[in-house]
Amino acid sequence: MNVCVIGTGYVGLVTGACLARLGHRVLCIDNNEAKVALLQQGQSPIHEPGLPEILQEAIAAGTLLFSTDLAAGVHHGEVIFVAVGTPSLPDGQTDMRYLHAVATGIGHHIDDRYRVIVNKSTVPIGSGDWLRTVAIDALKTSGNPHVPNFEVVSNPEFLREGSAVYDTFHPDRIVLGGNSERALAIMQDLYRDIVHRKYAEDPTLPPVPVVVTDLNSAETIKYAANAFLATKISFINEIANICERVGADVREVAHGIGLDSRIGSKFLRAGIGWGGSCFGKDVSALIRTATDYGYRAELLESCVRVNHNQRLVAIEKLQQVLKILKGKTIGLLGLTFKPDTDDMRDAPALTLIERLVELGAKVKAYDPIVSQSGMRDGFTNVVVETDAERLADGCDALVLVTEWAQFQTLDYPQMATLMNQPILIDGRNFLQRQILENAGFKYMGVGC
Ligand SMILES: NC(=O)c1ccc[n+]([C@@H]2O[C@H](COP(=O)([O-])OP(=O)(O)OC[C@H]3O[C@@H](n4cnc5c(N)ncnc54)[C@H](O)[C@@H]3O)[C@@H](O)[C@H]2O)c1
Repeated sequence: MNVCVIGTGYVGLVTGACLARLGHRVLCIDNNEAKVALLQQGQSPIHEPGLPEILQEAIAAGTLLFSTDLAAGVHHGEVIFVAVGTPSLPDGQTDMRYLHAVATGIGHHIDDRYRVIVNKSTVPIGSGDWLRTVAIDALKTSGNPHVPNFEVVSNPEFLREGSAVYDTFHPDRIVLGGNSERALAIMQDLYRDIVHRKYAEDPTLPPVPVVVTDLNSAETIKYAANAFLATKISFINEIANICERVGADVREVAHGIGLDSRIGSKFLRAGIGWGGSCFGKDVSALIRTATDYGYRAELLESCVRVNHNQRLVAIEKLQQVLKILKGKTIGLLGLTFKPDTDDMRDAPALTLIERLVELGAKVKAYDPIVSQSGMRDGFTNVVVETDAERLADGCDALVLVTEWAQFQTLDYPQMATLMNQPILIDGRNFLQRQILENAGFKYMGVGC
C-alpha cells in the first residue's frame, strides 16, 4: 500500500520504518529540513534500539523515502498518517497548531482519489471530526478544485520509547476509531501482517486484538490508558512514602500486590516519579477536557500532584543526610526520562537540577546518551561528565535518576573512593543495597 507519514518524530519515524519493513511503500514528510537530510542519508535522529537497522534496510529496498514536500506526500499516500507533536500549553490545553498546519496542508493538496487520513498523534477527544473540518475548509478556501473524498480514522499509538520497534511489531492491541467501514477495512488490511504476527519473534502467538470503535472512544482510549498507567505509578509512590514511615519495604509490597491478577506487577516500581513526553501532557489534557465538560477529575489531579511532590523526594533525602545543600556537589546518574531513549521531555532530572541549583548546590550528571551539547538551554550550570567515575569525582552524593542497565555494573568501589562522601540515593530502587554498602556507600532507596 502507498503510505504517507507526516511528522518523523519518535512515533512517525518508527511507524514509517516499520510499515516499510512490512513491504508498504512509505514516504515520510517532515518540515524540519535538517532531520530530513539526516534521514535521507539513512541516519536516525533519535536513539531507539533496532531503528537504524530497519531504516537502512527499508531505504536500501527502496520502500522508505523522506521529503519535506507535503504535496508529494499527500499525492503519494492512499493512507496518510499524521504523527506531529501535540504538546501541552501552560494551562493544560493541547497545542493543536502543528496538527492544524498539517490538516490545512492536506486540504490544499489532496485530490479526489479516495484517502484515509489517520490520526496517530494523541489529540483531545473530538479532534478527528475537527481535523476533517479543518482539511475540508482549507480545500474549499484554497481554490483546490477537487471534491473532498477522504475519511478520518483515529489510530492511537501505544509504543514505549526505548522499545518502540519491538512494540510496533508486538502490540498488545491495535485501536481503530472511525465511522467509515471502507476506511476501517483499509486500516485492517494495512496492519494485517502485524495482526497475524508475521514479524513477531513468536509467530505462533494468537492474532493481535483489534479494537474497532468510534472516533471519540478511540481518542479516549489513548488518554485513559496513559492516565491509568500514570496513576498506577503515583499510587505505588504514595504507598512507598507510607512504607518509609511505617518501616515496610515497598518492593516487597509491590511484589505482594502485583501477584494479584486483578492488579498485575507492571508499573509498580516506586521511585522519583514519572516523566516523558506523554504522561504529563496527556493526563493534563484529560483533566482539562473533563473541566470543559463540567466534571472535576479529582483522582487525576491527585495523580499529577503526587508525581510533582515525588520528584522532590530525592532532595528531601539529600537534605536529611547532607543537611545544607548550598556548596555541595551532587551527581546525577542518568538524565533521560527513562532508559534506552535520548528523550529529555519532562524528565524528572530537569526538576531535580532546577531545585538543586536553586538550593545552591553544584550539579554534575552522567548519562550514557545525553552529552553536554544535548542539554537544553537554561541548564548551563550542569556539568555533563563523560563517564561515571568522572561524575563521582568530588561529589557529596549521587542520585540515580534513570535506570540505565549499565548502571548495574559500574565500578562502585572505585567511585566511592573518588567522592567526598559516598552517599547514593537510588531514585529508581534499581541497585542492590548490599552491593552498594559493600562498595562503601551509604545507600538510600525510595520506600525501602
Ligand atoms: N513519543 C512517544 O512515546 C509517543 C507515544 C504515543 C503517542 N505519542 C504521540 O504521538 C505524537 C507525536 O509524538 P512524538 O514524540 O513523535 O513527537 P516529536 O516531537 O518527536 O515529532 C513530531 C515531528 O513532527 C514534525 N512536524 C511538526 N510540524 C510539522 C508539519 N507541519 N509538517 C511536517 N512535520 C511536522 C516535527 O518536525 C517532528 O519531527 C504526539 O501527539 C504524542 O503525544 C507519542
